[in-house]
Amino acid sequence: MAADDLENGPDRGTFGACCTMCCAWASFMFWTLVIFGLIFGIAFFAFVRSNLPEVRVHRLDVYNLNVTEPKNKNKDTQLTIDVQISVNVTNSNKKMTLSYGGMSVETMIEGFSLPKVHLEKFRQRPNSWNDLKIRPETMRSLVNDDDATELKLSATQHEMVLNVRMKGKIEFWFKGHLMSRLRLKVLCDGIEQSQVDQALAPSCNVKLSPFR
Ligand SMILES: *[C@@H]1O[C@H](CO)[C@@H](O)[C@H](O)[C@H]1NC(C)=O
Ligand SMILES: *[C@@H]1O[C@H](CO)[C@@H](O)[C@H](O)[C@H]1NC(C)=O
Repeated sequence: MAADDLENGPDRGTFGACCTMCCAWASFMFWTLVIFGLIFGIAFFAFVRSNLPEVRVHRLDVYNLNVTEPKNKNKDTQLTIDVQISVNVTNSNKKMTLSYGGMSVETMIEGFSLPKVHLEKFRQRPNSWNDLKIRPETMRSLVNDDDATELKLSATQHEMVLNVRMKGKIEFWFKGHLMSRLRLKVLCDGIEQSQVDQALAPSCNVKLSPFR
C-alpha cells in the first residue's frame, strides 16, 4: 500500500514531466558543448601542428672513432666515440615565434648509445633557423669483437646509421601572446651518414606528445 501511494502521489506526474524536459535540455546543452569543444580542440590542434618546426640532420663530424684491440687476449675490446651532430631547426612560420625549453637529447651510433646531452632553451623568430650542435661526451665502452669490427667497417665506408631523439617543451607565441605550450618530440631515426655527407639533410619526425 505504501509503495503504491508513493508511485501515484499527486505531485509525481508533473514533477516527472518537468524533470524529463529538464533532462532533455540539459543533455542537449551538454552534447552541444561537447561537440563544440571537440571541433575547437581538433581545429586548434591542427593549427598548432601545421606550425611545428622542421628538423633536419645536416652534418656529422667524427672526431674520434677508435677501436682498441686488447694486448691481452682475455680482455675486451675498447670502443671510443667522439662525434658532433648538427641539426637544423627551422621555424618557417610567418608570424609565430617558437620558444623551446631545455631539451634532452639521446644519440645512438650503429646501436651504441652515447651519453645524454642537454640543450639550453632558445627562442626562434618567424622565418628563421638555428643550427644546434649536439656533442655528446666522449663515449668509452667495452664491446665484443664482432660489433667493433662491424662498426669500424661502416665507419671507414661512411655508412653509419644514427638515431637522434630530442624531448622538451615548445611554446607558440603570437604577437607577444602565449598561444600554447606542449611537449615536443623529435625523432630522427635511421639517419644514414651517406645521406648526411651528400648534403641531403634527412628530415626528422616532429611530434607533439601528450605524455612524457
Ligand atoms: C686510438 O687509440 C690508440 C690507443 O689508445 C691510440 O694510440 C690512438 O692514437 C687512437 N687513435 C685516434 C685516432 O685517436
Ligand atoms: C637550415 O635550413 C634552412 C631552411 O631549409 C636553410 O635556409 C639554412 O641554410 C639551413 N642551415 C644550415 C646550416 O644548413
